[in-house]
Amino acid sequence: MTDEYGYDTVLVVDFGAQYAQLIARRVREAHVYSEIVSRRMPVAEMLERKPKAIIFSGGPSSVYADGAPTIDPAIYDAGVPILGICYGGQLMARDLGGEVAHTGSGEYGRAALAVSSGVSTLLFSDLPVEQEVWMSHGDSIVAAPPGFITTATTSGTPSAAFENRERSLFGVQFHPEVAHSPFGQDLLKRFLYEAAGCRPTWTNTSIIEQQVDAIRAQVGDARVICGLSGGVDSAVAAALVHKAIGDQLTCVFVDTGLLRLNEAEQVEETFRAQFHIELIHVKAADRFLNALAGVTEPETKRKIIGELFIRIFEEAARDLDDAAYLVQGTLYPDIVESGGAENAVIKSHHNVGGLPEDMAFELVEPLRQLFKDEVRAVGEELGLPEDIVWRQPFPGPGLAVRIIGDITPERVKILQEADAVVIEEIKRAGLYREIWQSFAVLPAVRTVGVMGDDRTYAYPLIVRAVTSDDAMTADWARIPYDVLERIASRVINEVPGINRVAYDITSKPPGTIEWE
Ligand code: XMP
Repeated sequence: MTDEYGYDTVLVVDFGAQYAQLIARRVREAHVYSEIVSRRMPVAEMLERKPKAIIFSGGPSSVYADGAPTIDPAIYDAGVPILGICYGGQLMARDLGGEVAHTGSGEYGRAALAVSSGVSTLLFSDLPVEQEVWMSHGDSIVAAPPGFITTATTSGTPSAAFENRERSLFGVQFHPEVAHSPFGQDLLKRFLYEAAGCRPTWTNTSIIEQQVDAIRAQVGDARVICGLSGGVDSAVAAALVHKAIGDQLTCVFVDTGLLRLNEAEQVEETFRAQFHIELIHVKAADRFLNALAGVTEPETKRKIIGELFIRIFEEAARDLDDAAYLVQGTLYPDIVESGGAENAVIKSHHNVGGLPEDMAFELVEPLRQLFKDEVRAVGEELGLPEDIVWRQPFPGPGLAVRIIGDITPERVKILQEADAVVIEEIKRAGLYREIWQSFAVLPAVRTVGVMGDDRTYAYPLIVRAVTSDDAMTADWARIPYDVLERIASRVINEVPGINRVAYDITSKPPGTIEWE
């Protein structure tokens, strides 16, 4: 498929740990399509994909450890340019007769790299001869394999980079994919463009063109349903499918009444008014609040909401009984993480948008090749508003897991208004995109305060803001005091029912991001 659109494919062979995804993202930032494959994939199968280049990722192992991952050495003779990074570089060095030593003095963190003088290097030509790089390794490449030249050293690694231009094989001990290696992306580009001859054709417009053709080919003239949640993934998936098949698409938006302030109106405005997409907007706040009345236990809340959501979606879909396809906003990391490559991490969060197994739809997954940043870029290209494209993640059960204790219409209203102030001030401070999630939580206690001459007895509000890469771990965001102070004074002045504001400074672990 990639050939037809003029894409070159780079395979990133995953040797474990967290490095492969980052490498694949960096390759795509250089506008070259990349895919992560397991190092267990037979080399013949890798070659069937006609890769223009192959990159070996880093990994947590020592090449000398029992059971350390290996690769069929036939790969080195396949005529495909290869770049080995960290563990991948050590493996290449060892496989081809170089020397990798347990020096006992690994390098972790920043290191000064010196490009060797008097050698002709493809990877470093045009790059500074002294540069900072990020290291994270125990073993060290002591000698490049025969036929290779060492092109750079650090104090801890005699052969920190080596290359054989005739065979187009390259190894580096450091991590060019991380931001702490300031020239790392330049080095990757030299490998991709100069060594491998890759063309920078993986762009937003070409992604959209390819997906539009693929969606049309998949669904023909059948009717397609897409569930909208208000979040970025389902929004971009819907916009993309709509571009491909226009009014064959019907979107279903179940408004649980537990969304952020004005979120439902914005979904209406964007999809119905701006995009002219046929939209079934099910206003189901009453049904959700009735079902949740008196329920305080977090998992019971989730279960009730999940089941009711499915029932309501089914009711809406029943009227579209000619629909044969269902759009899902599955992203590339979901595929990699559910066992697509090495080191599967399977997330346990079930999404409220999860649909019953007995609904007979074929799935349309137009984002399954994309990373989150690519999804956002495609969304912008398609003309979706910034508010949707850059929206922070939001849990499927919505505000229900941020209202501790009883969920009543009054308490939902208090939290929506207070949450809107938090988001507004975080945006005003220019922090919204760099913070993973920022929101408000309404606990089930009341505290005493004083306003004017009156004693108040009202709810406190908890402000929660975290930085994170993937929600698996998170740290509390170091928000400037003056931003916190503006949030606190505005919430107390503008939101009746709140008389105190606290900031949650718990990281994950041991806390979770949400309070329930
Ligand atoms: P926790 O609270 O477990 O959250 O640290 C991790 C990420 O998952 C989101 N979250 C959920 N998402 N259904 C969802 O679709 C849920 O039940 C759910 N609970 C938490 C949370 O917002 C964070 O991004």
